[in-house]
Amino acid sequence: MSLFIGSIDQGTTSSRFLIFDDKGGLVSYHQEEYPQHYPKPGWVEHDPNDILDSVCICVSQTIRKFEELGHSVKDIKAIGITSQRETTLVWDRLTGKALYNAIVWCDTRTHDLVHQLNKISPLGADVLKETCGLPITTYFSALKLKWMLDNVPAVKEAYDKDNLLFGTVDSWLIWNLTGGIESGLHLTDVTNASRTMFMDIKTLQWSDKTLEFFGIKRSVLPKIVSSAEIYGKIAGDYPLKGIPIAGNLGDQQAALVGQKCFKRGEAKNTYGTGCFMLFNTGHVPVITKCGLLTTVGYKFGNQETVYALEGSIAVAGAAVKWVRDNLGIINETPEINDLAVQVEDSGDVYFVTAFSGLFAPYWRDDARGCIVGITQYTKKAHIARATLEASCFQTRAIIDAMNSESGVPLASLKVDGGLSNSDICMQIQADILGIEVNRPAMRETTALGAAIAAGYAVGVWKSLDELKKINAQGHTLFVPKVSVENREARYKQWQKAVEKSLDWV
Ligand code: G3P
Repeated sequence: MSLFIGSIDQGTTSSRFLIFDDKGGLVSYHQEEYPQHYPKPGWVEHDPNDILDSVCICVSQTIRKFEELGHSVKDIKAIGITSQRETTLVWDRLTGKALYNAIVWCDTRTHDLVHQLNKISPLGADVLKETCGLPITTYFSALKLKWMLDNVPAVKEAYDKDNLLFGTVDSWLIWNLTGGIESGLHLTDVTNASRTMFMDIKTLQWSDKTLEFFGIKRSVLPKIVSSAEIYGKIAGDYPLKGIPIAGNLGDQQAALVGQKCFKRGEAKNTYGTGCFMLFNTGHVPVITKCGLLTTVGYKFGNQETVYALEGSIAVAGAAVKWVRDNLGIINETPEINDLAVQVEDSGDVYFVTAFSGLFAPYWRDDARGCIVGITQYTKKAHIARATLEASCFQTRAIIDAMNSESGVPLASLKVDGGLSNSDICMQIQADILGIEVNRPAMRETTALGAAIAAGYAVGVWKSLDELKKINAQGHTLFVPKVSVENREARYKQWQKAVEKSLDWV
């Protein structure tokens, strides 16, 4: 008899629920997009109820398909959860109601607050870096929570009355799925907690220093737990009632696990709405000065913590959506590939997709997007190709930073996420990096990572060696095909385009 593990994957633009078998094979899944709200330039919000509803629809639909295949829900042994990180939610512990829309990770409304806080110490943006591993930027939850407290009276009122609960998406989902106002568990795992700025990266506890810095009281924060243990059971009217939730990781950390980057020095790059490279640094949190973030990779139960260095790109798949929705030169996102293959190169056009400022390794929230090098010769195919190249070039800047930090150049990059399905994009990536790009057969590695954590916690898988066999066959390798001169000349041009983007405001 097969055992199954369910995985909720709550991303920036869509939610999914997937069921894996005990060999890590994907058995059934459903995906739902949900509304994005852009109330002002730079503001990005989600309705917390849309997040929860979209997850519930996915669960029901996946189960329907699962049962149609002749399987039974009672054979699902555990549920893992993985979600967009940093996105900040607040709700009332007595009513269960969200008190404001979720402020999404790429929202830049805290720009002024960031600049104010950066002036406090001569260390500027890095004043808390030794403690939490992160610079002060608009990206992380602490700033978003502070903004809500300063600007939304209902949030401040609940805070003053001690009724406010804060959480990232994982906390909101787990609290609701385990019974909400009746019995909801208010918790988050170490990977999600490591993106708030409130957690001490070494002790894995909320830090008094950062809480004091932001003026936030501890009682609003969830309990920090590991990424793989039984937290509690699904309760209420949810279709998976009674099944334990046993895995929880931020989506990029889940992909690190799903790609089985268990060894120090292994790295993965996930091309989703944004694009995020994580590099396993073993049991030591490495604090860098070269624009990389220090983050928790994963922690399974009471085993030692695994840390990672991260290079974050805010806009990757989101740029393809922008080409579809705002430029209108394609009708469906995969058409970008059909256009891009029509030309041999971008015709010296470079696109810096700094729609939310420019993240790693630059960290400039005043950067703006730009397309440079346009001539009469430029066709929409060149723009399409430059769009795909954009995240590949920024990945190169991140890998250069990682290599200079580790001293050992990365020889191979594991990839996944929506854009990794594009052969042309992955070939461009190999060409720009000058190293092999390795794509697994099954690309739902984020969801797989959460399933691995949950399955490990309940004993479906018992060792890392066993986990390494999952999704290990049928990889596609992309090897560099351009000359070193060509690669370096194009990268230099892109760096010039970045300067334009940084100079704009
Ligand atoms: O840090 C933000 C990240 O977790 C969002 O991931 O996959 O929705 O682009 P994704």
